[in-house]
Amino acid sequence: MNSHSARAIGSSIVLVGLMGAGKSCIGRRLAARLGLAFTDADTEIEAAAGCSIEEIFEHHGEAAFRDGERRVIARLLNGPGRVLATGGGAYMDPQTRAQVREHAISVWLRADLDLLHRRTSRRDTRPLLKRGNPLDILNRLMTERYPVYAEADVTVVSDDGLPDATVERVYQGIEAYLAARAAPETAEPQASEDASP
Ligand code: S3P
Repeated sequence: MNSHSARAIGSSIVLVGLMGAGKSCIGRRLAARLGLAFTDADTEIEAAAGCSIEEIFEHHGEAAFRDGERRVIARLLNGPGRVLATGGGAYMDPQTRAQVREHAISVWLRADLDLLHRRTSRRDTRPLLKRGNPLDILNRLMTERYPVYAEADVTVVSDDGLPDATVERVYQGIEAYLAARAAPETAEPQASEDASP
């Protein structure tokens, strides 16, 4: 896959994963490598609302934020192909998951609890992590969300290594996914019960 064929796949690449998984950092670098535009869904939601995510949560509540998030992501996915970093809760929405399935290749950046905790503790702008002990909250979110994130087309481990090494794994993962999708059915036919002696 080169930057030309990346554009030719005609779809977006959507990064999903928990807060601190590196979706924006990896997404920006992946977009540069593929020659695609990069969009951060949270930034778009803030631009559409004219205020920060914290303010949306504070003044309008989480449900209003989720409505805006669903609408903004649907609009972006119906536009030109791009690399889209989504907020950690976005992929939990069934309509958003359906939109992503239809318009994009999804990549789950999977990170362990310790890494997520260290990364998220550098910024205190995430309303969900202010509702109690951040480590406990992240742990609970991992239990709730990892089975759903696992529906993504590609899963890549996000670790403490160089961002470009993670970008490379994402790139290889997408390439393998595209190759498998393009390959003719190779599954062995199931042996019929009637054929047994
Ligand atoms: C959220 C993650 C945040 C942001 C909001 C809610 C979540 O985005 O959308 O605070 O539900 O996990 P990041 O994953 O980019 O931090």
